Amino acid sequence: MEFTESRLLQGLPKQFFANLVAKVNAKVATGADVINLGQGNPDKPTPEYIVEATQKWVADPATHKYSRFRGLPAFKKAAADFYEEKYGACFNPEKEVAILGGSKIGLVELPWALMNPGDTLLLPDPGYPDYLSGAALGKVKYETYPLKEENYFLPNLNDIPKEVAERAKLIYVNYPNNPTGAVATPGFYEQLVAWAKKYHVGVISDFAYGALGFDGKTPISFMQTPGAKEVGIEFYTYSKTFNMAGWRIAFAVGNRDIIEALNLIQDHLFVSLFPALQYAAIDAITDPRRDRAIQENVARYQERRDAFIQAAERIGWHPIVPGGTFYTYMPVPKGYTSQSFADLLLDKTAVAVAPANGFGQHGEGYVRIGLLIEPERLVEAVERIGNLHLFD
Ligand SMILES: Cc1ncc(COP(=O)(O)O)c(C=O)c1O
Repeated sequence: MEFTESRLLQGLPKQFFANLVAKVNAKVATGADVINLGQGNPDKPTPEYIVEATQKWVADPATHKYSRFRGLPAFKKAAADFYEEKYGACFNPEKEVAILGGSKIGLVELPWALMNPGDTLLLPDPGYPDYLSGAALGKVKYETYPLKEENYFLPNLNDIPKEVAERAKLIYVNYPNNPTGAVATPGFYEQLVAWAKKYHVGVISDFAYGALGFDGKTPISFMQTPGAKEVGIEFYTYSKTFNMAGWRIAFAVGNRDIIEALNLIQDHLFVSLFPALQYAAIDAITDPRRDRAIQENVARYQERRDAFIQAAERIGWHPIVPGGTFYTYMPVPKGYTSQSFADLLLDKTAVAVAPANGFGQHGEGYVRIGLLIEPERLVEAVERIGNLHLFD
């Protein structure tokens, strides 16, 4: 028997980066020593104190039952306390916090949970590709706003046409930003709150890289902005902060109507997270070893960033220095597109990079470098690229 996918599934966007993975795998199969800078998966293990806590919780039969719907109250309280301590933002744990199996699921669910056909979703270009899956599953229209280098990859809200702003129901913003590495400013977030109030648009802040800021600067949370809680929510994930991408733990905080819609759709799809994971998630953010673990991660990415950008400068390839994340956004040399440059690098130097047109049309002209290998290999990758003499 043969079965055909639903029209809904057939209408989902194609995974752009599946193509990159296939090309990298083909290159590896030739026996080449591939340096893969194309991915976004933290390479280091989860901090030991979290692994140990998890082992203890998994061994406790009390954690083997169904979780409470909407997650453990103690986890929601710990999440609210974490935000209060780190960002001075206060949330009611029961009404203003949602527990999620990773932030991707929440970002994809939201249009479905909160929007109707005809409503418009505003998305960054370039942006995290899964936002588009949410628009397609929710059957809503989306429009993009450009992130341009001349504006430090922050949107110019005044450039969003009035009729688009009036139709918009939600706007997604992501700082520290994937793929550009840009960070937000308090001034931008203040403008965003005012704009959201004026047009009655919900702000969805994707704070996936919230812990990863360079040069001693902690990235600001949208929730630090006066009025933010009235207009939106923020997703916080464990994936990058604690190298826990495979564990699938995140939460959202903010506006109670948006949180309720998220919780409601989750009631229909999941029975929250494995309770042992929720207890471990509490330990992760309450243990006194937390900040040290985060600082070690940040220091490691900063060392890699510095090694990479210094090596790039040496070959005349001028980087756009990231303020956060674990990426560096790089311009492609004259005469190349993002794709043709990425293909050339893989072919001639066995260095894989992510062509940034995969993040949207405004990514054209750039590639994204993942700082997810040791500094020596990053430098080696740049030296191999230098041998092509593209920047002389
Ligand atoms: C910008 C951005 N948002 C969200 C996510 C999803 O993270 P999570 O592991 O919490 O689903 C990622 C993962 O790469 C990301 O880059």
